Amino acid sequence: MAGRIPREFIDELLNRVDIVEVIDARVPLKKAGKDFKACCPFHDEKTPSFTVSQTKQFYHCFGCGKNGSAIGFLMDYENLSFPEAVTDLAQRAGLTVPTEASGTAAPDSGSHALLDLLNEAGRFYRNQLRSHPSAGKAIDYLKGRGLSGEITQSFGIGYAPEGWDNLTKVLGKDDPTRDRLVAAGLAAKKEGGGYYDRFRNRVIFPIHDHRGRIVGFGGRVMDPKDEPKYLNSPETALFHKGRELYGLFRARDAIKKSGRVLVVEGYMDVVALAQHGIDYAVATLGTAATRDHLDRLYRHAPEVVFCFDGDRAGREAAWRALETTLPLLHEGRQASFLFLPEGEDPDTLVRKEGRETFEARLKTARSLPDYLFESLMQKVDLGRLDGRARLVELARPYLTKLAPGALRELMLDRLAELSQVERGKLSTLLRSEGKALAPDMAPPASGRQPASLLWKAAAMLVQDPGLAVEAPDAAELVLLDEPGADLFRELLAWFRVNPGRTTAALLEQYRDHPQEATIGRLAAWRHPGLAGDVAAEFAGAVERLHEQAIRSRIDRLLSQPVRNEQEQLELAQLLKLLAADKTPLSRD
Ligand code: GTP
Ligand code: MN
Repeated sequence: MAGRIPREFIDELLNRVDIVEVIDARVPLKKAGKDFKACCPFHDEKTPSFTVSQTKQFYHCFGCGKNGSAIGFLMDYENLSFPEAVTDLAQRAGLTVPTEASGTAAPDSGSHALLDLLNEAGRFYRNQLRSHPSAGKAIDYLKGRGLSGEITQSFGIGYAPEGWDNLTKVLGKDDPTRDRLVAAGLAAKKEGGGYYDRFRNRVIFPIHDHRGRIVGFGGRVMDPKDEPKYLNSPETALFHKGRELYGLFRARDAIKKSGRVLVVEGYMDVVALAQHGIDYAVATLGTAATRDHLDRLYRHAPEVVFCFDGDRAGREAAWRALETTLPLLHEGRQASFLFLPEGEDPDTLVRKEGRETFEARLKTARSLPDYLFESLMQKVDLGRLDGRARLVELARPYLTKLAPGALRELMLDRLAELSQVERGKLSTLLRSEGKALAPDMAPPASGRQPASLLWKAAAMLVQDPGLAVEAPDAAELVLLDEPGADLFRELLAWFRVNPGRTTAALLEQYRDHPQEATIGRLAAWRHPGLAGDVAAEFAGAVERLHEQAIRSRIDRLLSQPVRNEQEQLELAQLLKLLAADKTPLSRD
């Protein structure tokens, strides 16, 4: 689809569709109080924490934190782009999607079409492994690497024969389809015109997304002289190396059962481990593990074991993984590092020593806290006073990355013990660094931290937009000098100008906006203060914020050594307002 979809249409669309119907058609919902519930389709769970609110037109999972409007749900659930999800919903609601600037019709490169092609390509490669005249060399290669026919099939491994257009010939019947092959990362366009297959003369590993659909491929050469050794799909609309993990879909049950996931570096490591009965391993796709990767993995199991080579590159990679993992270690999550003997990888090792010995190694994996302290201690001399001080300085940036909680406390205890700096002093030292938060500090991610009045009021408003109309019209709120104040005023204004809009409509208004995540968190935030008589509480909150705004402005004016005439006047007016406060505010 070309052109931008006007915001007003999104508003209208959300007015017409009902998120409960949209979701219920895909994930059967059960009524629970005034909301609807189900087991979350985005992570594995046994007791439902996926909640859909009809009044807010908003869904939220208390388990994995996913939330959004009907549009957002469709995007995630069906892997659609924003325009696709909008079009899908519009068709159902009998609306036609207008665009602000219609261009020429692009070929249909929607995810559905690409997924179909990728699926067909997967089947094509598998068939080639079975029936192509030259398949023997691929089969020999796989056998040579110790793979059974069963495991080869189970991973959907295939074969791309030699030649420039084996796949394009079969799947690319016309130019639009060939363009789709390019968009799917399966073919490339020649400079002088024409198309050619991306994967040639390689063993092919399909890469599945979290719903088991093929989104990309990796291809390995069979002859060590050929280059590059591995070729992956390029980044496409559906395939992002920073998000997908090889083998995750196949391994998800085993991961859940074993309570841990093993992260290795290569395709062949995952396959060989599975061949030997270790079927809870996944691989990153030639990149370091990202936050997205780890977020996803921790949804499946509370423990992640990273497996690295024992060489220098391996240690560097481990350190990067440690830095990425630290902020995610809360709620009992664990991470460990297993270093393999030099020259070995999980594939060679498990083939040599078998499952039991390899799993015994896993038991010796170093815990992240141990690995962190051991590494830092190697850089300092604890026999010296300034060496112990240095340890504190080195540890500080890492410990401040940890979320508040038991692990952080225990690691502080450990640092206190090692550095002999008093525990209380250590906390103070660390806190002075932890302050550097983003200016428009997001609201608390959960009820753990005490929430400011402002964020509470903002959450009430986002969850119950009708409050805007009833709210006191406290003009002096502009004086409020607190992170989030601008956003709060903006929200108040938006709901006043657009009465009757739901939480979901607001969410769509802020799609791709820098504050999008903040709005999402406010919408999903469950604070004990948000029950009860919300209207009275909200009005009270606004009045208190109003008073705070006036007070802080007065303080600022009073602390100025010199005030001009206008400031003097302002001060007088504010003092009068404050004196008169507790008197009701004007309403609009
Ligand atoms: P085998 O030699 O088949 O055992 O490979 P490996 O799995 O041991 O691979 P290696 O340790 O060399 O690399 C680990 C991972 O890095 C691979 O699975 C690929 O994802 C990626 N990789 C390795 N070589 C290349 C390359 O030449 N190009 C690209 N794009 N990725 C590579
Ligand atoms: Mn290898």
